[in-house]
Parts: sequence; structure tokens; C-alpha cells
Amino acid sequence: KEAKLWGGRFEESVTETVEKFTESISFDKALYKHDIMGSRAHASMLARQGLISESDADSILKGLDEIEMLIDNGTFVWRTDREDVHMNIEAALTDLVGEAAKKLHTARSRNDQVCTDLRLWCRDAIDNILSRIKRLQVALVMLAMKNEGLIVPGYTHLQRAQPVLLQHLLLAYVEQIERDAGRLVDCRVRINFCPLGACALAGTGLPIDRFMTSDALGFTAPMRNSIDAVSDRDFVLELLSANSITAIHLSRLGEEWVLWASEEFGFLNPSDSVSTGSSIMPQKKNPDPMELVRGKSARVVGDLVSLLVLCKGLPQAYNRDLQEDKEPVFDSVKTILGMLEVSAEFAQNVTFNWERIKSALPAGHLDATTLADYLVKKGMAFRTSHDIVGRSVALCVTSNCQLQELSLDELRSISPVFDEDVYEFLGVENSVKKFSSYGSTGSECVSDQLNYWVAKLGIN
Ligand code: ARG
Repeated sequence: KEAKLWGGRFEESVTETVEKFTESISFDKALYKHDIMGSRAHASMLARQGLISESDADSILKGLDEIEMLIDNGTFVWRTDREDVHMNIEAALTDLVGEAAKKLHTARSRNDQVCTDLRLWCRDAIDNILSRIKRLQVALVMLAMKNEGLIVPGYTHLQRAQPVLLQHLLLAYVEQIERDAGRLVDCRVRINFCPLGACALAGTGLPIDRFMTSDALGFTAPMRNSIDAVSDRDFVLELLSANSITAIHLSRLGEEWVLWASEEFGFLNPSDSVSTGSSIMPQKKNPDPMELVRGKSARVVGDLVSLLVLCKGLPQAYNRDLQEDKEPVFDSVKTILGMLEVSAEFAQNVTFNWERIKSALPAGHLDATTLADYLVKKGMAFRTSHDIVGRSVALCVTSNCQLQELSLDELRSISPVFDEDVYEFLGVENSVKKFSSYGSTGSECVSDQLNYWVAKLGIN
């Protein structure tokens, strides 16, 4: 049996149960690129500071290249008895280049090493998520462009509320995920500080240059406090919080599209390429991808909650509990990337059922609020106009008709303020045209919004 890298003070070797229970190599090998990156920067710094010789640094760097290549092409052997990614790489390096490799861990602990790796990993993850968010935004904007002029019922309480342009509705999602992107960008700024050189928790008496390693790894600066550097995972909590909010936005989109694809709504037709069938009911065509977007949001939130609970009882500084941070981070990032990708692909493969939507529009008195505004324009107090339109709607309900089907006499029986021009305000088409406030669903306002996104996203 190979002696542990930390084995000097031990007389007995660890039991197999403990070895299996405490290993993290089965999942933290995902950090290998970033671990090697950190080791390269660290070795170069040690040489520059005269802590190791240039030739030792050379052997270390060459050995790291070789190991990276072996891992890349799948021939590296990961060993559970070497516990984690850091010790697997260091021990393999020693097998490969001998004595020089034993100097790599000078002025370094796995405690600063692991959070350096993880910060580098999260930084890349954020860049990937940001580009997927952008791709979904592009897909939603293109879908909006294909459906110019389509009016849909707008809902509150899932009850018919006011008519809106479909473009307006789709752009609402584009706005929401833009803020998700903003949260990631903000969080990336705070992630980008370097723990390397904090060592176990207290720093070191050896003459290292933390600014050099921080620069080499593209960080803004070394972290100011070595205890803080190794002990906090707030940067991961922030990333997982941001992912959770994104997941919730995507889940809402999923819910809406699942509803809209139902027979009851019939507003949305997903193509066969993004639908699945039933193993028993031959007629079924289900919008599974968006159901699963809704479903997978649960694990993203779960990952955040796991990590919050993990961190809540930890005294300063490093605690082994923190090894449990990795699986939730990896899962959250993998899941959100998948959710974003499939949502974009779904958006590229749906059509809106114009006929069905048009035939659904007359129901629900969507123009009632526009009618109330009409009376306000005639000088009436809004509360009074609300009441008068409410009574007009009641009349429609008893005579089973739409507001625009009431005669002028019928309307005047409720209020003498109604005039011939009232019919310019009735019906969903007229109603939508009346919206003009900034950010509203009026066609000019919506085309301003659309132009903004087309330019911002570089769509041509
Ligand atoms: N695998 C550990 C982790 O993920 C690395 C740090 C372990 N440090 C230690 N002193 N046991 O956190």
C-alpha cells in the first residue's frame, strides 16, 4: 500500500470504509484543468522567488503538461487511495518527475488550492452560462420577430385581463433573463480574487509573491485575509443563488408554454422534434422538454439549499464539510446549462396558432379597461368610469355578447357620456392600439423594445 502524502505522523493506515467515505476524487476530478493551471502559476512563482530552482520548476511544468495530456485523452489513472484531485495530480507528478515534484506544495495547502481551483472553475462556468443566456435571448427575440402583430390575451390570476402583443410577452422573458445575466456578472467580480498563498489558514513565513500568482491566473488581486480566503464559500452561494433565480424564470416560461400547448389553450404548437409521445396513449404529443425545465428548476434550488445548510454551522477556517460544496455546484451549473440550451431549442421549434388565438380573443372582455380609459378621456373620474364599465360588462354577461356589440343606446342607458367614437376603443385590435405609455404593449412601444434587443444582441 502506498504511503499517504500526509502519512508521516501516522502508524496505522486508514480503513477502507473511511477511505471510501472521505474520498472526493470521484467528483472533484472535474477540477483538474484548473488545479493544473494553479500549480503552474504556483511553481513559476516559487522559482521566481528563489524558493525552488529554475530546473525544478521546469520539470514540474513539463510533468504537469504530460499529466494534463494523459487526463485529456483519458489514460490517466485516478486513484481513490490518493483521495482527491489535488493529491492525485501531485502524486502522479512525483511518479513522473521525482524529487522536483515534492517541492510543488511549498507554501501551499489543499485548503487554498481547492478554493483557488473552484473560483477558477466558477469563473469559467459563469462565462458559459452567460453565453447560453444570450442564445436563449436571441431565440426568444427571433420568435418575437416571426410573430409581429399577433395579439394574445394577457392574464392576471390566469384570468383574461388585457390584450397584449405576443412580442411584448416574449420580451418580458428576455428582460428577466437579462437580469439573471447581470447577477452572474456581478458575482463574477467578487469571485475573481485569489486565495492562493493563504495556505492552510494563516499564510506563510516563506517569501512568496501572491500578487504574481493572482496575476498569472487572471484574478483581480489576492484575497486580503488568509482565514477568509480558505473558509468562505459565499462565492459559490452567490453563483447558486443566481442560478436558482434563472431556474425559476425558466420554470415559469416552461409552465406557460406547457399550458399554451394544451388542448384547452391550443395557442402553441411545438414541433415533433421537441415533443415526445406516450407509451400507452397513441395520440399523445407532450411538451416534455419544457416540463423538465420546470422540473429541473427544483434541483437547482435544492443545490443552493444544500450549500446554505452546509455552510451554516462552520467555525472559521477550513472544515472538511466544505468538500461537500462541489457536487451541488457542479450539478447546479450542469443543470442550468441544460435548461437554457433546451429552452432555446424549444423556442426555435414552436409556432403560435394564430387562428386559434384570434378566435379566442373576443372572450373575456379584454377591452374593458381601455373602455374605462375612454371615459376618463371624456373627463370622468376613474372610479366612476370603472363602475360604469363594470355595469356595461354585466349587461354583456346577461345578454351574452361583447362590449363592442352593445348598441350606443344600450351604452347610453348606463352613462350619457358614451358617444359614437366609443367604438374606436372597443375590440382587442382597437384596444391594443390605444396603449402608448413607455414600456406598454402599444405597437410602437413594443417595436422600440424589439429594436433595442435586436441591436443589443447583434441580431441581423
Ligand atoms: N478535498 C478537499 C476539499 O474538497 C480538499 C481540501 C482538503 N484539506 C484537508 N486538509 N483535508 O475540500
